[in-house]
Amino acid sequence: MDKNFYITTPIYYPSAKPHMGHAYSSIVADFFARFKRIQGYNVFFLTGTDEHGQKVEIAAKNKKINPLEFVNQVSKNFEKLSNLLNLSNNDFIRTTENRHKASCQKLWSDLEKSGNIYLDKYSGWYSVRDEAFFSENELLNGKAPTGADVEWVEEPSYFFRLSNWQDELLNFYEENKDFILPITRKNEVVSFVKSGLKDLSISRTSFNWGVPVPNNEKHIMYVWLDALTNYITASGYSSDANKFETFWPADLHVVGKDILRFHAVYWPAFLMAAKLPLPKRVFAHGWWTNEGEKISKSIGNVIDPVKLIEDFGLDQVRYFLIREVPFGNDGDFSKKNLIQRINSDLANSLGNLFQRVISFSVKNCDEKVPNHENKFTPKDQDLIDSINLELNQIKKLIEIQKLDDCLKVIWTKISNSNKYIDEQAPWNLKTTDQKRMNVILYCLIESIRQIGILLQPFVPDTASKILDSLSVDNKERSFASLKDKIKTGVFLKKPNQLFPRINE
Ligand code: MSP
Repeated sequence: MDKNFYITTPIYYPSAKPHMGHAYSSIVADFFARFKRIQGYNVFFLTGTDEHGQKVEIAAKNKKINPLEFVNQVSKNFEKLSNLLNLSNNDFIRTTENRHKASCQKLWSDLEKSGNIYLDKYSGWYSVRDEAFFSENELLNGKAPTGADVEWVEEPSYFFRLSNWQDELLNFYEENKDFILPITRKNEVVSFVKSGLKDLSISRTSFNWGVPVPNNEKHIMYVWLDALTNYITASGYSSDANKFETFWPADLHVVGKDILRFHAVYWPAFLMAAKLPLPKRVFAHGWWTNEGEKISKSIGNVIDPVKLIEDFGLDQVRYFLIREVPFGNDGDFSKKNLIQRINSDLANSLGNLFQRVISFSVKNCDEKVPNHENKFTPKDQDLIDSINLELNQIKKLIEIQKLDDCLKVIWTKISNSNKYIDEQAPWNLKTTDQKRMNVILYCLIESIRQIGILLQPFVPDTASKILDSLSVDNKERSFASLKDKIKTGVFLKKPNQLFPRINE
């Protein structure tokens, strides 16, 4: 089995204030990184900021400072967000770093050597907000299909021979059926490519905030060529052959649906042309609306992740974002639904199970995991052995990025444990049958240990509180440890409440 795993978030334009859309891409990618680590993989998780291009240059001009000074300030907002989200990223790339410039120039030279670049003149429409070129027939009512303003651009430009790669791309999609997920998005990409690819303008001359083209400094590279290259910069393309060998190609690029075309058409074409291996999967997640409305600065309904986390807690927000929508679909953020999920799934189902089992055991079993003397009934056995099946289900679901379904598997386990405790009513056995009471509590504590291990990638802080209170050693928190069982006599710590209920 290939034991390395490389996962990326999009790199964010630092000119905007971090919002929930950014937080969402990052939280999901962080989930995969944590999951794979617990599964025993050597994970490289990359995030960062996309600091060149006209959009950033204009934002700096508006602030009356030079672009470098500007990005030095604003990229900090994204580093802060990464910390606030407690991302487990191994690297944070900024495209203004020298290591990235070197890597872009190497890729450019490779593309040039292989005959994929030529000099010509671009004339057409450009949308600064999307940092994308559009032809006349793509415009809708004089705007980009995204609704962004466009401007007429006419300037000397290098082109990438994208049209030469159309058939190879279609073959690649055909042979790698899961390269783009979800399937509906893949179909959109395939029809776009089938409708015919034109060569792509990959340099600009009318401004200069970017990576200079090797041997022709009048041109700077198109910001998307520069940005996409971040994924190979950080994995060592021009700096560390060993690392590159270990981690490239990436296993998973997590992107929003709006930037799928760049990742699923341009990026593989650049890589094929440079004779580099292609990423294994690009997954396009959906977009969030806020209480049914499109999120936009002009409406003023942008959701600030910092405030959201301050108000509700990080794990609560992570849980909600992953559970609320099937990954890949659009989702609606609503405070009412968030509060409902916190109260019912987290505080009631998970919080109560944990609280009642551990408090009762601490009190009645001398603060230790009780003895079971191997006297398990079939029902007991079901509760503690179902984990093999659950783990297999979860691993399979993760291979196809069905995150919300994984949570459903875990919550079925939680609800089975709650049913079991109600049926078995250990509190009634305190004076009549302590031995049986002990077996029941043992099974429940073991079930909670399993739940704690499974929950780590989803709600890392809560999972560590659960595992700490069962004195589970840090080395025994991987999925591999699920084949063992908790030992009798292990110290139990009195639990603190996991999730306070929220008043609506
Ligand atoms: N810089 C480019 C990405 C380059 S990757 C080589 C970019 N940056 S961005 O800051 O504009 O957006 C980053 C991510 O935020 C995208 O994946 C985008 O889909 C996501 N979101 C922005 N608004 C969103 C929502 N309302 N909902 C969910 N995600 C959204 O694009």
